[in-house]
Amino acid sequence: MKYFLFIVVLLMMPMAGSAQLRTEYNLKNWMFSRDSITWEQVRVPHDWAISGPFDKKWDLQMVAIEQNNETQRTEKSGRSGALPWIGEGFYSTNINIDNIDGKHATLVFDGAMAEPTVTVNGQQAGYWAYGYNTFRLDVTPLLRAGDNRIDVHLKNLEESSRWYPGAGLYRPVKLVMSPKISIDPWGTFVRTLSVGEDIAKIAVDTRLQGFQGQEGLAMEVSIMQPNGSIERACHASVDSEGEANGEITLHHPRLWTPETPNRYKVITKLYDRGRLVDSIMTYTGVRTISVDSVHGFRLNGVSRKIKGVCLHHDLGPLGTATNKAALIRQVRQLKDMGADAIRTSHNMPSQMQMEVYDSLGMMVMAESFDTWIYPKVKNGYARFFKEWSERDITNLVIANRNHPSLIMWSIGNEIPEQGSEEGRDISKRLQDLCHRLDPTRPVTQGMDRAESALKSGFAQVMDVPGFNYRVYKYDRNMKSLTKGFLLGAETASTVSSRGVYKFPVTWQVAKEYTDGQCSSYDTEWCSWSNLPEEDFMAQEDKPYTIGQFVWTGYDYLGEPTPYDNYWPSRSSYFGIMDLAGLPKDRYWLYRSVWNHESHTLHILPHWTWPDRIGKLTPVFVYTDYPEAELFLNGKSLGRRHKANGLKVDDQKPSTRDVAKQRALRYRLMWDDVLYEPGELRVVAFDSNGVAADSNTIYTAGKAQSIKLETDRSTLFANGEDLAFITVSLVDAKGIELPTATNSISVKVSGNGRFRAICNGDATSLESFVKPEMHLFSGKLVVIVESAKTVGDILVEVTDKKLGLSKSLTLQVK
Ligand code: GAL
Repeated sequence: MKYFLFIVVLLMMPMAGSAQLRTEYNLKNWMFSRDSITWEQVRVPHDWAISGPFDKKWDLQMVAIEQNNETQRTEKSGRSGALPWIGEGFYSTNINIDNIDGKHATLVFDGAMAEPTVTVNGQQAGYWAYGYNTFRLDVTPLLRAGDNRIDVHLKNLEESSRWYPGAGLYRPVKLVMSPKISIDPWGTFVRTLSVGEDIAKIAVDTRLQGFQGQEGLAMEVSIMQPNGSIERACHASVDSEGEANGEITLHHPRLWTPETPNRYKVITKLYDRGRLVDSIMTYTGVRTISVDSVHGFRLNGVSRKIKGVCLHHDLGPLGTATNKAALIRQVRQLKDMGADAIRTSHNMPSQMQMEVYDSLGMMVMAESFDTWIYPKVKNGYARFFKEWSERDITNLVIANRNHPSLIMWSIGNEIPEQGSEEGRDISKRLQDLCHRLDPTRPVTQGMDRAESALKSGFAQVMDVPGFNYRVYKYDRNMKSLTKGFLLGAETASTVSSRGVYKFPVTWQVAKEYTDGQCSSYDTEWCSWSNLPEEDFMAQEDKPYTIGQFVWTGYDYLGEPTPYDNYWPSRSSYFGIMDLAGLPKDRYWLYRSVWNHESHTLHILPHWTWPDRIGKLTPVFVYTDYPEAELFLNGKSLGRRHKANGLKVDDQKPSTRDVAKQRALRYRLMWDDVLYEPGELRVVAFDSNGVAADSNTIYTAGKAQSIKLETDRSTLFANGEDLAFITVSLVDAKGIELPTATNSISVKVSGNGRFRAICNGDATSLESFVKPEMHLFSGKLVVIVESAKTVGDILVEVTDKKLGLSKSLTLQVK
């Protein structure tokens, strides 16, 4: 590859030649069938399985989950969501293209679940094995002027996933018509070389598609200001390989961080003897990343410990069909909690996700695989690893490397090979491949068997050694890690059900209750995991930790641990937020430690316990303040102070006593409260002992009306924007009824439609797509979708039994 010197010029003129050089068709309207006989019209992104019905017959497994230390095979129901995702799916669409002369045609799939085989006009265009990855097919020879038919066949084998994978064309599909010789978007790599006092150096590499040694080609790359004016531009000729590389110097760059997600547009233009033949736009962010033993993880030279969450790809009741509004809602909630990073566990993110994370400011660890050669489930990715892994890593990296939010690649999660030389060699090979395609980012993976991984050298190979759980081993691990730092690649796995409190309060490895729920006192974890406090301590006290990714930010479909054998559990309990996206109490615990912008003062449990009068009902307060006093009906129950001095030098696995000891550093707890109805008030004191804040919760009376809270009141008229409306019942004073389970029905009219409903109950078998559902712990969320036409949406919510109804109007603009 020849390196050309770029001539940097400051352009004063606006961009010339904005004629349509390439056309991108977002293929949204498809016919869909499960048997290729009966067809229905669907809109892509589409998840064929999310409409259910839930049934344990869909995905029953007789297995031992080795990751959970099981040795006996038992019946597992709901492990992958108890939804009908297994089997075949057929999609078909037509597209009319007037002019194909001199054009290059590329089909771009951002993921298709699973094993997509694509045909164009009846001829095979290509296949991709992994359902999570983006891939492109050159369909130029198959396309004709006029009508074209595109068919996709999908196949999901049983026991191919440890969670709900979804099914179908769940991410966008695009047809890109570009000039015969054109700029390859995946061959364009914009990266920050350095950030100085008031100057940043940016490298831009470009590669052409359809290049056959033509001469007289030249590139122009311009970096735009947010207002559209050109900041800087440079020119270069194209070398004999069809590539051009160069540098741009930016003065006074506005850096990208999660707190300041500044983006620049980079316009790359291709000229043939002075005539503009192609142009593409790439978003970039100016920022540097580094990791070392002295400074830990640094963004733009500033050390910070990563406050991350792991996320599976499903969006709860929307299934895996990706949606921008739903992703934005997640990021807003996570940012309010103080999180700054997401691990896309255990697979590739969508482009839509990456754009949302870039523009709103969330750092990303983009993961690839949950298995390599040795399977965790019978028909998982292990079938493909040998043949496909390098192609999969390549697409992951080249499709995503321009995203400023992406800070780290992950080549695997809890890979069974971690104790072997073979595993170490694969790690090295995949990491080297990432480096070749992207020399700017470190590579990690999550390891769960520290001793074996350190013994085999598997851990030491990694740029960033990432460990899952077992915080008490961190000190020991460090003795064998010359790099001098480690990442909590996966942490916590605390389990809870929103609004469900178990008595007596016990600190323990999660036990199974008869109702299939876990306690929201946040005192239950799994045998391999721990409570959040243990991770907080490791991050605060151990200088070598560079951050953590909590398992998980949201509940997800499938993996209903600790109820893997219990029907009807069909979704997880790990989430800081539930499946409907409603915060559990744990949200406030993380917020109290992670959010440094605004105070947290949260009381739990709720205070409506008609059956607990006179009974021991412990009260916990999650707050960033060091001290607080609790009052029950005006009577002081004492002042509590966080145990600041508490250190855990000798970290042991969580046990009842140790866990509670550790919690004293972050939670204020009143263990001996005898319940009486009324008002429970907490007054918080700052570090000077001055009363600084207060919060009160009340016992609720009888239901008097319905309360509706929407996250947005105005939606875009694009046919896919969403509002999330939280429904609850309130008494005459407006106090929410925290245990209500009333059946609620919904009617949506006007310029929108009902899209989905969810109450966050992991044991509910009610459909996400019927406009009626029971409240769970007093709440549920209704998701309403905009039409493409401007106007109003009327949402009417009714509790038929109580004869209550309430409506809300959303604007569509
Ligand atoms: C981890 C695993 C995750 C999830 C989690 C549950 O070991 O990496 O995918 O299974 O356990 O605690």
